[in-house]
Amino acid sequence: MNLGKIGRNTRCPCGSGKKYKHCCLGKRGFSLAEEYWQRYRIILKTAEQVAGIIESGKVLKEIMDGVEKIIAPGITTDDINDFVHEQTIKAGAIPAPLNYHGFPKSVCTSVNDVICHGIPGNQVLQDGDIVNVDITPILKGYYADANKTFFVGTPTPAGEKIVSVAARCLQLGIEAVTPGATLGDIGFAIQNFAEAEGCSVVREFVGHGVGLDFHEAPQVSHTGRSGQGIVLVPGMVFTIEPMINLGKKEVKILDDGWTAVTKDGSLSAQFEQTLLVTENGSSSLTPFDLNRFIIS
Ligand code: MF3
Ligand code: CO
Ligand code: CO
Repeated sequence: MNLGKIGRNTRCPCGSGKKYKHCCLGKRGFSLAEEYWQRYRIILKTAEQVAGIIESGKVLKEIMDGVEKIIAPGITTDDINDFVHEQTIKAGAIPAPLNYHGFPKSVCTSVNDVICHGIPGNQVLQDGDIVNVDITPILKGYYADANKTFFVGTPTPAGEKIVSVAARCLQLGIEAVTPGATLGDIGFAIQNFAEAEGCSVVREFVGHGVGLDFHEAPQVSHTGRSGQGIVLVPGMVFTIEPMINLGKKEVKILDDGWTAVTKDGSLSAQFEQTLLVTENGSSSLTPFDLNRFIIS
């Protein structure tokens, strides 16, 4: 991957609004990685770093596939935590959530009206519930971050609807990722679809740069305007993780200081992947099939 390369006719990454060829292309000593660090504190990843994140993503996928197999009415969210913790250690990795700013468990489990950051405990999963499982291993120092929302037993129509919309939102967000596009293009694609479906987009939590740390620059909003915000360039690695509510967008944080729920009690669903901006589009470093969650 050549990190110094961006299309001559795309907007200059320095933010001038001019075409790259009429702006920074000719500057002496200009390096895109240097520019992105200085301007935004964004770390453009080297090929070696990308390879490390991919390996972490493979660990994540194995654990996520195992979680899917144990999800059933009657298990507790602590059962999911124990499974994720043990499998992460077994793979030679560390669960990033554990003790992260005081988070007490190794995975986030968010049931029904819980938007995100649900703390595993003695809650028993019931037939018809939806549960989001958000997994972040650290393997050899490299972070990969992804989540899925699963059905427990037989899905309800409302559960199917919100899970489908959230999955399609991530898919549309991913499709907006290409060099020369902007962060605003991602937010716009997601917000436009979610609201057309009569759902709402949570504002308080956003995607983020990831790879060498859990949460790096930039913030990746799931709402926005086309063409606004930071220009995407090859080597950027960030998550897209839209949280979509069946009702209103407002959030409430429970007394545990972590659990974010919908204020109106409506269902909320989320999907997350870690994306790399490539020379000609994007590549997921935590790939999984979104179509199986989408009702067409
Ligand atoms: N995995 C979440 C994310 O996608 C962050 C969880 S922070 C924790 O960004 F402390 F709750 F684990
Ligand atoms: Co994330
Ligand atoms: Co996550």
